[in-house]
Amino acid sequence: MRNHVEIETKRGYFGEYGGAFVDGSIGSRLKELDQAFLDALEDPSFQQELTDLLRRYVGRPSALTFCANLSSRLGRGARLYLKREDLNHTGAHKINNALGQGLLARRMGKKEIIAETGAGMHGTACATVAALLGLECTVFMGSQDVQRQAANVARMKALGARVVSVSQGDGTLKEAVDAALHEYASNPQAFYLLGSVVGPHPYPTMVRHFQSVIGHEAREQFLKEEGRLPHYAVACVGGGSNAMGLFSAFTDDLDVKLIAVEPAGKGLDSGLHAASLMRGEPAIIHGFKTYVITDPNGNPGRVHSISSGLDYPGVGPELAHLKDMGRISCEGVTDQEALDGFLALSRHEGIIPALESAHAVAFAMKLLPTLSDGTTVLVNLSGRGDKDLNTVMRELEL
Ligand SMILES: Cc1ncc(COP(=O)(O)O)c(C=O)c1O
Repeated sequence: MRNHVEIETKRGYFGEYGGAFVDGSIGSRLKELDQAFLDALEDPSFQQELTDLLRRYVGRPSALTFCANLSSRLGRGARLYLKREDLNHTGAHKINNALGQGLLARRMGKKEIIAETGAGMHGTACATVAALLGLECTVFMGSQDVQRQAANVARMKALGARVVSVSQGDGTLKEAVDAALHEYASNPQAFYLLGSVVGPHPYPTMVRHFQSVIGHEAREQFLKEEGRLPHYAVACVGGGSNAMGLFSAFTDDLDVKLIAVEPAGKGLDSGLHAASLMRGEPAIIHGFKTYVITDPNGNPGRVHSISSGLDYPGVGPELAHLKDMGRISCEGVTDQEALDGFLALSRHEGIIPALESAHAVAFAMKLLPTLSDGTTVLVNLSGRGDKDLNTVMRELEL
């Protein structure tokens, strides 16, 4: 019998984290959404349609790839595996959740979705699902990210979505979420298709559910390949959806070490990072309680990461609770280390990772040389790196 780790302590709460700190009308719409989600879970036809689309449209199951070259270069017999979410249609894990919520939106009779995006992968996934299901789509994106991730802006526009550039503040993911929440409040017809395990209940629970396909598949594939579970499961953390998607299949397996890799930016002591779990404090952001990087007034503070998708001052409440429970360990990876990880995976395995995912790869590259023969490390390769080529070319002067 495996011990069961109690994580969602009461619906919508993970220990002291989570909840829904929103005003009246949004509160009732979120309750309606929660009920629609629970009803959909009970409906086999919903699950069947999602499963079929994940297989026929997204291309699931995504591959599990053994990295023979990096394993032998870095390890003393330790073995590195990747869960290949980069191979999904649209190139990242974001499509799993976008399809799930898109089907839910259609089931609720909604004609219009709104979304926020940082790296543009969630925005692209939403624009794709909207095209597939015949929905209108508006994506809010920080103005800095519109520049950094221009390739994804073009993809969203080609797919027929409206992209709204948000120039407030630093023009990154926090401001995009602010704008999307504002639009959600003022447009009662819209469905807010949130892209990570953040925001008020039910989003953290719902997004984790739609991403849990990653962990279920990886667990089965790993058992088949290695005859046992991995010693380490590693994922980068922005809001935390690819991490929770992977970790949720292993939280009860206490022998599997779960490592959340946060963006240490220019260094954890530089003030220029986005390591909310490691350097934040409990506070409320965007309608939920979690670890938040705050300014001296207790408001969400400025953050930095080379990766638009990790550049957020909060983190999923379930990860905050798992950290307090000691069930996950948190590690920081700097911008420079992520660039090194990007290049190493590209040059030695022929796989160009998203800069977000390169954080997890870079941590694995530090871990492998410390491990003994036969130890296994599973990294969630959350997305592909085409969108980051301009940044990498500039930073590395290639
Ligand atoms: C490829 C990729 N990985 C990871 C992330 C971070 O999001 P999350 O922590 O929700 O997985 C993003 C966000 O845009 C992304 O595009």
